[in-house]
Amino acid sequence: RTAPSLQPVVELCPDSDDEYADVDWDNLGFGLRPTDYMYTTKCSEGGSFEEGHLSRYGNIELSPSAGVLNYGQGLFEGTKAYRREDGRLCLFRPDQNAIRMQVGAERMCMPSPSIHQFVEAVKQTALANKRWIPPPGKGSLYIRPLLMGSGPVLGLGPAPECTFLIYASPVGNYFKEGLAPLNLFIDDEYHRATRGGAGGVKTITNYSPVLKAITRAKSRGFSDVLYLDSVNKKNIEEVSSCNVFIVKDNVISTPATGGTILEGVTRKSIIDISLDHGYQVKEQCIPVEEVMEADEVFCTGTAVGVAAVGSITYQGKRVEYKMGDECVSQELLSTYTGIQKGHIEDKKGWILEI
Ligand code: COI
Repeated sequence: RTAPSLQPVVELCPDSDDEYADVDWDNLGFGLRPTDYMYTTKCSEGGSFEEGHLSRYGNIELSPSAGVLNYGQGLFEGTKAYRREDGRLCLFRPDQNAIRMQVGAERMCMPSPSIHQFVEAVKQTALANKRWIPPPGKGSLYIRPLLMGSGPVLGLGPAPECTFLIYASPVGNYFKEGLAPLNLFIDDEYHRATRGGAGGVKTITNYSPVLKAITRAKSRGFSDVLYLDSVNKKNIEEVSSCNVFIVKDNVISTPATGGTILEGVTRKSIIDISLDHGYQVKEQCIPVEEVMEADEVFCTGTAVGVAAVGSITYQGKRVEYKMGDECVSQELLSTYTGIQKGHIEDKKGWILEI
């Protein structure tokens, strides 16, 4: 079968003359707002991904016995497109998401698109949906690449066909708290990941098992859950949707990635920015007692950005942390967003203009 070729974006986008979609940009939040186009390509057993194509955003057809539906053979990514004040459209380190998808695909026995194909596909999806990229300062276009076992399987094994699909939605703040500090709950009953599992890659199976813990914490008024290691229940690991950092006496620490911590693109970027700012950064085990004695705690993630933590509650004890403009997290956040907005020179080549 001949692979469908990539459609020219202008032909596909009858509405592309409109600079902006009809959206209340001041109240975006993190809910799905379906956009115009999605990108799809498939790969059959032993082959490589066909040339992808853009099509109208909509439901997809899957065999009831697709690997992703039956055995959770799937990965996802998250990256964002920004609109700058000068009108330029930019992506932030999409190559890092491509690399992480390749690592995850290897773990989940799936083929993966090349870094070039991944980045081009993200670019095409962002451009096709450019009227959904929020005005400067109002948010971003969250781009969600998915890699899934779409072929049919009954016995447990890798699906004979995989689909790489990308859709997008304009987003604002991830947490309903907006930019207000988060109140986290340390859960010592449920765990996010375990040694030898797949916590270090972005498999879809890392996320639904924490829904119960999140729901319980939210019903008690917390913003989200901070998980402990599943072996000793002694060291902090990660929040449901983001990595975590602590600051004590101006030293920044974050749990070392060793298979149970997601290798966050924002995590990695914030470590680099911290080192550039002259901070000592430690990637190590962080006992929960140290967290309770920290000066500051903050979270990082593509969806979350850099979010200050105002309090943590553990076994009935609540501690509060330093907050405000003088905080280390705010200093790092301002460099991170400054690079994205183009206010700070992109010395590391993190920005891809599209
Ligand atoms: C992201 O930060 O991009 C994620 O994938 C987290 C997700 C739970 C929204």
